[in-house]
Amino acid sequence: MEKLRLPKPGTIQVAPSLLSADFARLTDEIKVIEDADVKMVHLDVMDGHFVPNITIGPPVIEKLRKYSKLVFDTHLMITDPEKYAETFIKAGADHITFHIEVVDNPIPLIEKIHSLGATAGLCLNPETKLEAIAQYIKYCDMILVMTVHPGFGAQDFMPEPAKKIERIRDIAGADVRIEVDGGINPQTTPGVVSLGADTLVAGSSIFGWKDRIAAINNIRKAAE
Ligand code: DX5
Ligand code: ZN
Repeated sequence: MEKLRLPKPGTIQVAPSLLSADFARLTDEIKVIEDADVKMVHLDVMDGHFVPNITIGPPVIEKLRKYSKLVFDTHLMITDPEKYAETFIKAGADHITFHIEVVDNPIPLIEKIHSLGATAGLCLNPETKLEAIAQYIKYCDMILVMTVHPGFGAQDFMPEPAKKIERIRDIAGADVRIEVDGGINPQTTPGVVSLGADTLVAGSSIFGWKDRIAAINNIRKAAE
């Protein structure tokens, strides 16, 4: 199946994270964010090993694929992305992000993801140093900076790891998206955008509100 591409770098995108959505009504939740004209949806995959929580896997993504034309931005918080990336892409993921902490050399997996038609990204935990990914940024379509410890929604934003964004932007230039994940809301958005982030993952600050569309627009306004 033809893959959807990430929106052009430089345009600010809100990527709602379904982690805080109502899992019993996922298609309704996707419909609402489509009505807000978002271009991508952030899918958090947790395996109970890399993080102490378990969420969704390829069967759920495969079913959701039939209901949405949003870019499926798939965040693999799993210990073995080399083993599972292909299954997620075949299920409908358009973009695969995996963590630098679980691979020795990410290049073969980035190449494999590209050969399967998807875009690829690397993610780093709050305590992981920028140096761990610096030499690989040029191979990626998007870099994901965690501003909470991965595993759960609705945690407080950590300002310290966000500082990496500025240096990543220096290395990446304008052609790579920089996504930030954890504690993003209208208050924390201006800071990360001024550092160079253009992709804002937000879970609880969207799905924690009754009016999801207004919540998305509030983040957009804060990014201006
Ligand atoms: C956490 C996930 C996030 C999570 C963010 O491990 O990677 O995508 O949904 O949740 P909020 O936006 O509530 O901090
Ligand atoms: Zn995430």
